[in-house]
Amino acid sequence: MDEQAHTASKREAGYRAAELVQPGMVIGLGTGSTVFFAMERLKERIAAGLNIQGIPTSLQAATRAREYGIPLTSLDEYPEPDLAIDGADQVDPKFRLIKGRGAAHTREKCVAASAKQFIVVIDESKLTTHLNAPVPIEVIPFAATPVVARLKFMGGLPVIRQGVKKDGPVITDNGNIIIDCSFGRIDSPEKLEHDLCSIPGIVENGLFTRFTKKTLVIVGSRLLTSADVIP
Ligand code: 5RP
Repeated sequence: MDEQAHTASKREAGYRAAELVQPGMVIGLGTGSTVFFAMERLKERIAAGLNIQGIPTSLQAATRAREYGIPLTSLDEYPEPDLAIDGADQVDPKFRLIKGRGAAHTREKCVAASAKQFIVVIDESKLTTHLNAPVPIEVIPFAATPVVARLKFMGGLPVIRQGVKKDGPVITDNGNIIIDCSFGRIDSPEKLEHDLCSIPGIVENGLFTRFTKKTLVIVGSRLLTSADVIP
């Protein structure tokens, strides 16, 4: 599948998710290129009279939502949004995810955890039988060195994410750094997600294993069931 086909698939997924939004809903707005397509379609629906509010998961999502005329609110105003729409970097057959390529996974996880339904929009390249991508981990800068040591002790290969067109590490919207840590094939994502968050200094990690029951995955124009994720 070439780049153009991936983009077309992301657009289809985003648009399909936007069609599931009902009048009056409060929706979590994830971060990344696929969610932007959902926002693009929401912009059209808002222009046609749809009344919704969005909770952005990053500065990037907030900026795009404002450009598109999507009224914004917060988890303080709406602690239980109707749904959250978000992208992912890997999705396995049980709808467990790795997220955080955009370093927004901490707020994305807060919003996904609070929402009644979680809609994940992806193209085919994100489907995998086993999660094995590096796990993005948000860490307070103060604890970077001991956290790196703990991750190595756990068998991981931690790398501090570096900025592009900016010297030094990526700094998240929360003022923290990101460590991308490879663990090879992750046989128990639930355990790894839990173990990572028990390390002092780690704010959140990009494994999403706890929302599977309320997750709907849209790949291109298809609503997936887990049986569709084939080797
Ligand atoms: C940001 C994320 C994104 O949702 C994920 O990286 C997918 O992005 P895209 O839709 O651009 O492929 O987790 O932190």
